[in-house]
Amino acid sequence: MTTMLKAEGLTKQFVLHNQNSVTLPVFAEVSFSVDQGEAVILHGQSGVGKSTLLRILYGNYRPTKGHVHVRHGDAFIDIVTATPRRVLEARRKSIGFVSQFLRVIPRVKAIDIVKDPMLARGVADDEATRRASDMLARLNLPERLWNLAPSTFSGGEQQRVNIARSFVDPSPILLLDEPTASLDAANRDVVVDLIAEARQNGSAIIGIFHDEAVRDRVATRRLDLTAYKAAA
Ligand SMILES: Nc1ncnc2c1ncn2[C@@H]1O[C@H](COP(=O)(O)OP(=O)(O)OP(=O)(O)O)[C@@H](O)[C@H]1O
Ligand SMILES: [Mg+2]
Repeated sequence: MTTMLKAEGLTKQFVLHNQNSVTLPVFAEVSFSVDQGEAVILHGQSGVGKSTLLRILYGNYRPTKGHVHVRHGDAFIDIVTATPRRVLEARRKSIGFVSQFLRVIPRVKAIDIVKDPMLARGVADDEATRRASDMLARLNLPERLWNLAPSTFSGGEQQRVNIARSFVDPSPILLLDEPTASLDAANRDVVVDLIAEARQNGSAIIGIFHDEAVRDRVATRRLDLTAYKAAA
């Protein structure tokens, strides 16, 4: 099996510089690897560090210790020590992050938001339009909204634009932080299917899902962070 991501001895403590430099240990020595086609669900109670770990894997937070090796073509990039330029390169081609919120860019139409990552990867404009339209239709986003900027959309509509953008041409590694949080049951089912399809096409998924039923349907494996709880 092809390994897509290797986390090595990840330890995180937050230091609150504006509060007497109080140290908040979160987890210690978390090591795991994820293969192509797997969906690893991060588990453990609120505050155990699931979102923190996901942000470290994407390079948004720096771990106190440890490394994150992300497959980038035939090689690996260590997200912890890589230059910002290499991290951006990894994000363009190899690793994607789906949060529960769309980062709305003023005046950019929904359909262009969905097309953008495909165009960046060299997909032709008409093919990108066709695939983006299919995906927005599949996620039940009314066609009258496709050519509008999502700033006035409802939470669930924005989230579906976000999901369409991330799943229309899924990254080889996909990090998901509660992507189904504000969706109704029908659209949640679509997302569960999209995750399964991405996996079958070889993506490696690491995700956080609040809903136990969704977790059961998505997971091929669980990683319980409780076991790595750092001593206070
Ligand atoms: N930027 C930050 N600065 C300081 N402490 C933080 C920061 N981000 C998270 N923490 C702390 O780290 C711990 C883990 O937070 P995290 O958000 O990763 O938990 P979680 O497992 O995702 O919880 P939930 O299920 O509630 O989303 C918490 O105690 C939190 O207060
Ligand atoms: Mg969280």
